[in-house]
Amino acid sequence: MSINTTSAYSDFHLQFIAGEWQTGKDDSINTNTNPYNGDTLVEVQQATKDQLNEAYDAASQAQEKWAKQTPATRAAVLYKVVNILDQRQEEIVDWLIKESGSTRIKAMVEFSATRAITLEAATFPNRVHGEIRPSNTPGKENFIYREPIGVVAVISPWNFPLHLTQRSIAPALALGNAVVLKPASDTPVTGGLLLAKVFEEAGLPKGLLNVVVGSGSEIGDAIVEHKAPSLVSFTGSTSVGKHIGELANGGEYIKQVALELGGNSPFVVLKDADIEQAVKAAAFGKFLHQGQICIAINRVIVEDEIYDDFVERFLAHVKTLNVGDPNKQDTAVGPIINEKQVKSLKEKIAKAQDEGAKMILSGEIEGQVVPPHIFTEVTREMDLSRNEVFGPLVGIIRAKDEDDALSIANDSMYGLSSAVFTADMQKGLRFARGIRAGMTHINDISVNDESNTPFGGEKNSGIGRFNGEWVLEEFTRTHWISMQNEPREYPF
Ligand code: TAP
Repeated sequence: MSINTTSAYSDFHLQFIAGEWQTGKDDSINTNTNPYNGDTLVEVQQATKDQLNEAYDAASQAQEKWAKQTPATRAAVLYKVVNILDQRQEEIVDWLIKESGSTRIKAMVEFSATRAITLEAATFPNRVHGEIRPSNTPGKENFIYREPIGVVAVISPWNFPLHLTQRSIAPALALGNAVVLKPASDTPVTGGLLLAKVFEEAGLPKGLLNVVVGSGSEIGDAIVEHKAPSLVSFTGSTSVGKHIGELANGGEYIKQVALELGGNSPFVVLKDADIEQAVKAAAFGKFLHQGQICIAINRVIVEDEIYDDFVERFLAHVKTLNVGDPNKQDTAVGPIINEKQVKSLKEKIAKAQDEGAKMILSGEIEGQVVPPHIFTEVTREMDLSRNEVFGPLVGIIRAKDEDDALSIANDSMYGLSSAVFTADMQKGLRFARGIRAGMTHINDISVNDESNTPFGGEKNSGIGRFNGEWVLEEFTRTHWISMQNEPREYPF
């Protein structure tokens, strides 16, 4: 039996700037609490704009050297990070449970996704390549280089904090960039400080990764408007994403943006589907992490012929889910991240009833634990259908037929993920291709993320793609260099 001698990370009350752990200099404090029992986990003195500037200066300086390192050197750091993640899996899962209210199941899903993207990113230094293109000018050669983009600003959300942060910072660093990261205020540890510890332990040179803990409303604009970042990688709500897009393109310095925003994923069950399998999928794809996932099932759309059967079986299955302590092995639905979100869910429950939806399952809301709520006879006009729920409430919509189901599925200003269940694969593919979204899964849930396939949305769900070669493009810049090998004849 091997003895684990690694001591747990500590000092999460500090900022990580220019490779040093330092106290925030702002007057305000971020009190980080456990959403299940309210325990205070850590108090972080927040960062000032001067500290943000310090982080950007350090990143800019460190990046120039880092970009010149060999691909093998950069890859080695990423492989080391994978090793450390493995050694510290238990510690990391524990933080995900206590800080973000993840159930054990969700924490493991998130850990695995984080590990996978880190491993994928370790291959990136050797996968970037340029091109040689023919020229119409005699004697000219065209080279297209792919260079690091420079400094990347990363702003991440609280729902999958570890993964959605790592999904930006691991590729960014692997590709020769430096990062200034602002994690969500609800998850400063799993969204940033914990990863800074891991990269520090892996030997990442100082200044390449900076974690600035502060409120989005206080320092968010300054992060985006600063001269240093050439790219802002933002994951969060559509409203803040729109604001960031405007700032990044309307301020003094124009910069690229990668925006991963809200979703309203349809989950369509056609009449020939395996209903039992669709029921299990709907429950997992809706209630994993209490529905607080941008690609969670937001609308269940069922063909008329099987609607009643589906509803009956879905209700019976959801009633069996364990609700409560996220630390228990068999808990399916844990707490909501904060009181503000609980309040918004209470309002949604009331609105659904006001609008005429029939609530067939509900339960006591205790603290921040909201049990599953199921609504039937939901129409496409209702709030439950139009807007992202981000909680364990679900509306089931009746579709007249396949065409109607497709029309309902596409009736949204979002276009992130989607799913369709059918026994006929040809029909499934035809239906999937008719959906206007970045991702569609046939006979599976809308919640899927693989490190080698393109992840992203369209319409109000954002711009850009993560993972695989798609993120290689996103986090590098293209540079056309031409070489005139013989004197060119100019008209004058
Ligand atoms: P937001 O309120 O948008 O917060 C996301 C991040 O933006 C946080 O770090 C937040 O900081 C920061 N922020 C807030 N105001 C800002 C500003 N003015 N300038 C710069 N940064 C600012 O979203 P949330 O409540 O954390 O997450 C829920 C939403 O995110 C949902 O709509 C969900 O669909 C979406 N989401 C999308 C995805 C993908 S992949 N598309 C993934 C997860 C979540 P503070 O925490 O300090 O306010």
